[in-house]
Amino acid sequence: MAAPYAFCYSTVMRSESVQYRIVGRDAASIGRSIERGVVRGELEAGEAIPSVRALARELGVSPSTVASAYRDLRHRGILVSHDRSRTVVAHRSPLAVRLAPELPDDCVDLASGNPDPLLLPDLGPALAAVGPVHRLYGDEPSVEALLELGRTDLVDDGIPADHLAVVGGALDGIERILEVHCRVGDRIAVEDPCYVGSIDLIRTLGLHPVPVPIDDAGPQPDALEEALADGVQALLLVPRAQNPTGAALTPERAAQLRDLLADHPEVVVIEDDHASWVSGTHHQRVSSDRQHWAVVRSVAKSLGPDLRVALLSGDAATVTRVLGRQRLGTGWVSHLLQRLAATVWRDALRDGTLREAAATYASRRDAVIDALAVHGIEAHGRSGLNVWIPVAEEVPVVQGLAARGWGVQAGEPFRLQAPPAIRVTSAALAPSQAAAFARDLAEVLDHRLGTRRG
Ligand SMILES: Cc1ncc(COP(=O)(O)O)c(C=O)c1O
Repeated sequence: MAAPYAFCYSTVMRSESVQYRIVGRDAASIGRSIERGVVRGELEAGEAIPSVRALARELGVSPSTVASAYRDLRHRGILVSHDRSRTVVAHRSPLAVRLAPELPDDCVDLASGNPDPLLLPDLGPALAAVGPVHRLYGDEPSVEALLELGRTDLVDDGIPADHLAVVGGALDGIERILEVHCRVGDRIAVEDPCYVGSIDLIRTLGLHPVPVPIDDAGPQPDALEEALADGVQALLLVPRAQNPTGAALTPERAAQLRDLLADHPEVVVIEDDHASWVSGTHHQRVSSDRQHWAVVRSVAKSLGPDLRVALLSGDAATVTRVLGRQRLGTGWVSHLLQRLAATVWRDALRDGTLREAAATYASRRDAVIDALAVHGIEAHGRSGLNVWIPVAEEVPVVQGLAARGWGVQAGEPFRLQAPPAIRVTSAALAPSQAAAFARDLAEVLDHRLGTRRG
């Protein structure tokens, strides 16, 4: 029955030559059409789709039909509405979409947010040391050697470790915590800008991210106070190596935030410590003395993203619920992975790999920031793998840098209300390249008069 739809279509303008036709006569078929476009990559992340009224007019259906289709896609995290008039395709929709196009071969990849593979521990000796032992249903979900390392590590940072779970990475832990504490429609305070994966996850769970602007020392107290006063169910923050800005909580800022949170004991505080041991700064805790809290400490940036292991510490109720929910689904994180992570971690502590990696990332960040300062370009990055550079317009700067051989990330996916910027993954940039990068960025900004800030 394709024929009746022939006259019921709308187009999404991407460029002058590419258009996607949305078709359908009812909410379900319109929704399926948009979903098809996203899966095929014909509707790209961030792309605006027509307003409810415009699409209704073009398809000859009522606005409430289109609104219903959009509502369903929003609840499923496929579309995102920034305001009443602008709905876009989510940056990481929960569909098996094509991956973003790769950078050209001759481009230096400063866009990925990845750790430098050369700074990750060698997996060889650990793989050889992890015995080929089968685990069966009914075994303990967590490997004691990993829990033991985790307990020592957390307690050294002043974080209680009486209740621990092993989860499949930071985002898996965050998703499980949000699921056990939040209901559809709840509001979650997040840093603005913040990790795009967290924003998309929150929206996909039917929750609403509430932006709390940050500076180099973390979330701004006035803004958090406002968000708390307006009512939020949870606060999600990254205590160090904040992605994308490189912010890290100072002891003073953490104390201010704890004071504010003390007036809102019902709020669940979640700390996403995704870069843990290579962030180059101490973990300042905000989640202490709370009824419901969690710290998720991932090995992803320190030991390797493919290990997919994170330790989740929290209050008894939170950890019990997370473990219970995990048991009903994946059951546990593979013991092979857990044992591998524990062995790599122990060896890396022993031979200083983690300390060395943290120092190298710090020197690479500093080299970029210092090189940019020579040209009067403001840049942020106290901690972690990235540097955040405010610009007046993102797209021309990203394009200008790509033309000069540098692949960087536009800030848009990370921002809720924060002003424009680009994210540069300094983890991958040798200090000897920093001056050339800064010179090229200065040239791009100078070519676009008025683009440069500060
Ligand atoms: C702030 C933040 N949280 C979480 C993650 C994902 O961590 P994991 O791979 O442990 O889920 C990332 C990845 O870059 C991140 O930047």
